[in-house]
Amino acid sequence: MMLVDPTPEKKRRRRVLAVQNVKGGVGKTTVAVNLASLLVERYGKKVLLIDADPQCNASLYLLSDERFLAATDSGSVAEKEHGNLWDLFHKDVRYIDLVTGRRHGPRTSFDRHYHVVKRGTGGGLLSLVCGSARLSDIQEMGPELVVSRIRDWLRGSASGDAEVVIIDCPPSIGSLTLSALRAADDILVPMSPDAFALHGLPLLLQKLDQYRTPLRIKCRVAGVLFTLYPPIGAEVRPAADAYASRIEEICRARTPPVAVFAARISRDEAYPQSFERHEPLPFSNDPKLRSLVDELDGVARDLKLVGDAI
Ligand SMILES: Nc1ncnc2c1ncn2[C@@H]1O[C@H](COP(=O)(O)OP(=O)(O)OP(=O)(O)O)[C@@H](O)[C@H]1O
Ligand SMILES: [Mg+2]
Repeated sequence: MMLVDPTPEKKRRRRVLAVQNVKGGVGKTTVAVNLASLLVERYGKKVLLIDADPQCNASLYLLSDERFLAATDSGSVAEKEHGNLWDLFHKDVRYIDLVTGRRHGPRTSFDRHYHVVKRGTGGGLLSLVCGSARLSDIQEMGPELVVSRIRDWLRGSASGDAEVVIIDCPPSIGSLTLSALRAADDILVPMSPDAFALHGLPLLLQKLDQYRTPLRIKCRVAGVLFTLYPPIGAEVRPAADAYASRIEEICRARTPPVAVFAARISRDEAYPQSFERHEPLPFSNDPKLRSLVDELDGVARDLKLVGDAI
């Protein structure tokens, strides 16, 4: 089903959203990919997903193994049609590796650093800047050298005409995450309702305070999104509810308060299965997935990416 975004054309501007939590395995990539797909399929939006994690899970979710290898094979630059995020970071950088003495860069310039992954049924378009395992190089560079790379590229015409940009961050705060935060308007913080959940948020907020001025980072925390939420009736559901209430209290008590979204993402096997099929939930026709896709719709509304209140 296609819904029309009622926002008048002139009020629209590109929104850049970083999905980050220092805690690993909380559903950042799953939310980033499925939220992007929802906006494309249900609202006909042009969405650009940037995979800023050396684990490349967002790229592996969306691309077949062959396309992923073709996008990341550093040995055959001549064969590659599009650059990935590593190429984008290195396109005009020259440096000498002090350990090996090898010269690097500048790399072959690519016309495009994104792939078109999917055209939605109503004119929407999902594009991807593919990740690369070599992005761990960037993590080792001083943030001041690379912090503006994603932002500058997004400001240029070579980044296309996406209305929404979603950046999937690694579970750490190094140069890659900081470049994502420098480019972002908002940060979405996925969090599972469990005993370990709160460790990541204070660290993220502390790092934001530390780097905001020196690295000119202006984004704000849009809110915490509970993910992997056990279904009603599950044995662990009461414990999850108790953790969620506690987390809400702590977020409310912070200065300034951190919002906790009303929308929640249920724990459901459909997510890992969709990863294996390289098919995000919103692109499936299976009616059994409808309630899960509606939860993603709630996230898009809480983020004001769609709806009257943009
Ligand atoms: N709502 C969900 N229900 C069930 N399984 C989920 C859900 N969300 C994520 N998963 C599974 O949990 C695992 C971790 O999810 P994901 O990769 O999205 O987390 P992440 O925060 O991006 O991890 P990392 O910090 O390593 O980048 C994956 O196997 C994924 O399929
Ligand atoms: Mg991830």
